[in-house]
Amino acid sequence: MSKRCYSILSALLAIVSSFPLSAQSKSVDAEGHKWWQHAVFYEIYPRSFADSNNDGIGDLKGITSKMAYLHDLGVDAIWISPCFPSPQVDFGYDVSDYENIDPMYGTLADFDSMVAEGRKNGIRIILDFVVNHSSDRHQWFVDSKSSRTAAHRDWFVWRDGKGPGQPPNNWTSTFGGSAWTLDPATNQYYYHYFYVEQPDLNWRNPVVEKAMLDTTTWWYKRGVSGFRLDAVDTLFEDPKLTDNPVLPGKNKLGDPNTEEIHNKKLPEVHDVLKKLRAVADQSDAVLIGETWTSNIDELKEYYGSHDNELQMPMDFMFTTVDKLSPPEFRRQIAQVDAAGGWPVFVISNHDKVRSYNRYGDGKNNDAIARLMGAFYLTLRGTPIMYYGEELGMENNDPKRKEDVKDPIGRTGWPKEIGRDGERTPMQWNSDANAGFSTAKPWLPVPPSYKTHNVAKESDDPNSVLSMYKKVLALRHTNEALIDGNYAALNEDDPNVMSYLRSYKGKAVLVALNMSSASKKVSFNLAEKGFGSAGLKSLVATPGASVKGMDVSLEPYGVFIGEVVR
Ligand code: GLC
Ligand code: CA
Repeated sequence: MSKRCYSILSALLAIVSSFPLSAQSKSVDAEGHKWWQHAVFYEIYPRSFADSNNDGIGDLKGITSKMAYLHDLGVDAIWISPCFPSPQVDFGYDVSDYENIDPMYGTLADFDSMVAEGRKNGIRIILDFVVNHSSDRHQWFVDSKSSRTAAHRDWFVWRDGKGPGQPPNNWTSTFGGSAWTLDPATNQYYYHYFYVEQPDLNWRNPVVEKAMLDTTTWWYKRGVSGFRLDAVDTLFEDPKLTDNPVLPGKNKLGDPNTEEIHNKKLPEVHDVLKKLRAVADQSDAVLIGETWTSNIDELKEYYGSHDNELQMPMDFMFTTVDKLSPPEFRRQIAQVDAAGGWPVFVISNHDKVRSYNRYGDGKNNDAIARLMGAFYLTLRGTPIMYYGEELGMENNDPKRKEDVKDPIGRTGWPKEIGRDGERTPMQWNSDANAGFSTAKPWLPVPPSYKTHNVAKESDDPNSVLSMYKKVLALRHTNEALIDGNYAALNEDDPNVMSYLRSYKGKAVLVALNMSSASKKVSFNLAEKGFGSAGLKSLVATPGASVKGMDVSLEPYGVFIGEVVR
């Protein structure tokens, strides 16, 4: 074969092999939207998703075996919580090798198969990059600790104590106690914002920065489409180690409350994010941020002043609305919608009590779970689902201290019970252990798995799962939901949350009854440019009805309709 022929052939092959992804989510659309702006993301906690070798712990082959399920659900990208080699003190958030897979979860070959299977199903892979700290068993730290003159000494944050038995300052670990641990061999303290086994990397050292940036490239080359960046707030500390101001009272772990102004959200964080972004841009990759912000200005900063930091900083302020309050939700959405960046909505994750419990009233939990799904999946922006949310999975909290796996739950019991409850195995069917594993799973499934599982809910058109599937299918095909503007409707209504998504003269109206009473709402869309319109139902709960521009909703009812003229 001639050289030219060969290169045409290999170019064709490259196009064909990338086809399933580009078919589902073109890189940039007519609006200039990128693939991740149209994608639905889904967080997988790998220990708990699917166990292929029946050892009680989920693994990559398990994830691979469920790609078809994820595709049918309407997922375009999965973010896998850390699956790298790790002593598992913080269940993977303590990484001992950034460029490998923990044997518990499989091998790099399994990873490659997962990427390939994802591609076949139009699903991209996002990894979790634990940027702030490594494990104390990482070779970098093992060397760093070995002597004051070790090659990696300056890869971590080492300081002398203030005096005998006194740490360098008053900074506390978010997981309890001082953030400084003395290493008796070299008689210096190292800094760890999280567990003792999670020493903070020294991002002021350019060699550390390079090693970390190179790691992202390494994974991009392996087929990863982006990263969720863990704990970005904590990347830098004040080099002068100024004490944090002490506030009244103690936290759940018994430490004094402090205002963390000298070891969190330092401006240098943004320099690093810009560098990570420049690398990501070379691979059309996305950066998602674990961005805990207390106001919209802080969130705005994470996008970067020139769209040059995180494309997708998560809006956790949305999750602070813990009750079904239309006025509060309207306020939050209006803020992030006007912020200039692309909104990112989340209602649950592996660190938060599941939305089913947070919003549920104990009587109408399934209806509320359907409503919450219909809500955040129809907003303007990218949603990140949490595995099992589509089933109405509930928290299964430990009842006794001795059952707790998450170390903060053991330190803080009973005030702080840890995060096990929201990390239980995915509920696939009504068999033992919800079909997750034939072995005893690392965490127990709640009794409600008998009714709340994929198999059962697939057969019920009114299940939480069926609602998620319908809404996700609509979201992928309806232009107003894909690209449309967001406009709040009936803004004085304290019970029914309504909004219009409109695009090029077409619109979809969403009405969600967030109250326990039946409600009838009327809409006048004239001022939105849709005079004398009617509504055609697209997705609705069984008791919802529409007449002209009046919508009647049962308690926690959902109506999504197309505006017809
Ligand atoms: C993030 C993770 C959390 C982890 C912590 C330390 O907050 O979401 O699960 O414990 O970082 O890595
Ligand atoms: Ca396993």
